[in-house]
Amino acid sequence: MDKALLVKMVGRWLFLPLLLSHVSAQSFSVVVPLTPVSGLLGGSVTLPCALSDNLDARKLEVRWYRPSMYSSPALLYLNEKLDLSVADIKYRGRVSLPGPLEKGDVSLKLDDLRPSDIGTYMCHVSSDRWYEKSNMSLTIQAVGSSPILSMLDAGGGKVNVSCQSHGWLPKPSLTWRDSDGSSLNPPNKHTSTKDSEGLFSVSSWRLFTSSESSWVSCSVALPDSVGMIRESRLTPHLPTGTWKGAFIGTLILLLLCIIVGVGVGVYFVVLKKGLIGSERKETEGGEGRK
Ligand SMILES: *[C@@H]1O[C@H](CO)[C@@H](O)[C@H](O)[C@H]1NC(C)=O
Ligand SMILES: *[C@@H]1O[C@H](CO)[C@@H](O)[C@H](O)[C@H]1NC(C)=O
Repeated sequence: MDKALLVKMVGRWLFLPLLLSHVSAQSFSVVVPLTPVSGLLGGSVTLPCALSDNLDARKLEVRWYRPSMYSSPALLYLNEKLDLSVADIKYRGRVSLPGPLEKGDVSLKLDDLRPSDIGTYMCHVSSDRWYEKSNMSLTIQAVGSSPILSMLDAGGGKVNVSCQSHGWLPKPSLTWRDSDGSSLNPPNKHTSTKDSEGLFSVSSWRLFTSSESSWVSCSVALPDSVGMIRESRLTPHLPTGTWKGAFIGTLILLLLCIIVGVGVGVYFVVLKKGLIGSERKETEGGEGRK
């Protein structure tokens, strides 16, 4: 009896430090970046999340979820493996934990970025007796198409130049420039629309004095990001003379066709009438002969 108690006591003394270290190791914190993480549309991004003191995360539960989507997370790591049973189908095949988990790195890698991925992500790590969570935000950028420039004759030596570009994220800015590279004032109003995929299109137009020598440019750029810019140039000159000539040429040809058509029609009608007439004459002649 006494011996058994002694064993128990010794056991307690032996295991107490272990138990304590276990308890202290259980209270961890989760470290995430304070500034938004940025990725490119269609590309990959890693949302960093680390446990304090490089605590081994292999035996812990790691849950990455969007706010209010706790029970349907983007990724769930449980019982030392990824649990796909409850994971949000929108993230299936696009998420992973690159680790190393044993060093407390529970960062989320997200591939094939879509506009719907933009927003807040929660990094939630839990053990049997402790949990900690932190959030961070993800922004996605997309560089759109080169601006398409087109022109219309606005009359009085003016050319109406339109600029259009699509596939941007977030909402881009649009700037008209002249050959000197200086932006034109006042800045033109441009309209932007969001398509069904969540990408932005922009368009603008501006009147220019027709010129054969100097070009104008339209550039579309993402806010606060150097290098994310697309520009197109054009000489605001409509070959009006040639165009008018071509139009008149076409008109003359069309008129000619009509005249020829009418002429041919008239000719056939006349011919038909003539034939009928001669038939009648023949008949009459025949009758006359009878
Ligand atoms: C994200 O964290 C900040 C600061 O910790 C907090 O103010 C905010 O409410 C959190 N957002 C969400 C969606 O949990
Ligand atoms: C210039 O063209 C755009 C369409 O490309 C049109 O909406 C705008 O009204 C035109 N402006 C003038 C002054 O003709």
